[in-house]
Amino acid sequence: MKRVPGKTAGTDERAFERLTLNERLQHGVLVLSFTTLVITGIPVRYHDSVWAGWLFTLMGGPVGRAMLHRLAAIALVLLSGYHVCYLLFSERGHFEVRALIPRAQDARDAVHHMLYYVGRRPSPPAFGRFSYVEKFEYLAVVWGTAVMAATGALLWFEVQAMMVLPKWVLDICRIVHGYEAVLAALAIIIWHMYCVHLRPGTFPMSRTWLDGRITETEMKHHHPLEYEEIRRQQPQAPPPNGGDGRPRGGAAAEAGLAAPHRAAAEAPASRKEDRR
Ligand code: HEM
Repeated sequence: MKRVPGKTAGTDERAFERLTLNERLQHGVLVLSFTTLVITGIPVRYHDSVWAGWLFTLMGGPVGRAMLHRLAAIALVLLSGYHVCYLLFSERGHFEVRALIPRAQDARDAVHHMLYYVGRRPSPPAFGRFSYVEKFEYLAVVWGTAVMAATGALLWFEVQAMMVLPKWVLDICRIVHGYEAVLAALAIIIWHMYCVHLRPGTFPMSRTWLDGRITETEMKHHHPLEYEEIRRQQPQAPPPNGGDGRPRGGAAAEAGLAAPHRAAAEAPASRKEDRR
């Protein structure tokens, strides 16, 4: 069977666990709350347009829209609080934070990548668990959520806020909230969707956000340093398909799924990223 980089469904390949169930649920709540915030917020900004009028009607008018926007905002803020606790207090969270910290190597990787794109390097940089693009995107979500929650809360409690703050602060909050909303929506629709789902080899969709898995081919292709590290820690791990080209299905494949990831999680200090 031909193994195509990026395909996770329907292949006979050994798979690695990239996202735990907990992380997939967090991602799911983020998708739902963020999408609702975009759909209920953007029509306010473009209220003169015909499509905004349709969306207002669909959402039960201005009151229904405002209520939905606030409910989704509460969901996003609760999720953010949970995510911070997850990073601070769980072993897996510590592992992810260490892998997400930007390092000097990320800057070198970015330059290397640009040189590769203009034909000055023969191959792209080799990434670990998270590439510089993924780290940047994650930090953009963290920063964007903080800005949206802070400015949104002031707009929500505008009357109370105006008792202690000058009006121009609220005016700036409205401008920042509106522009950041458009920026965030475009970043997700264009950047995130392309990098994660629509890029060659993955199109039309990566299933990792649903099943948490990444195939061995994808690991070698997109996260070769992490792959090397896992192989080093698990030299006894069988080669894909037992080396005989025949599929390893059922329990054997399942056993191979989580173990490499656990190995990486248990010994993060020796990971390639830590040398960066
Ligand atoms: C996270 C917490 C958030 C809170 C508490 C919040 C709250 C608010 C409030 C109170 C308003 C004023 C209009 C209204 O009464 O509904 C507003 C407007 C708006 N919100 Fe949010 N929001 C949040 C996040 C977001 C996000 C993530 C987006 C989209 C990515 C978004 C998009 C918008 C837009 C486009 C407007 C119209 C701004 C304008 O007047 O130009 N909001 N938000």
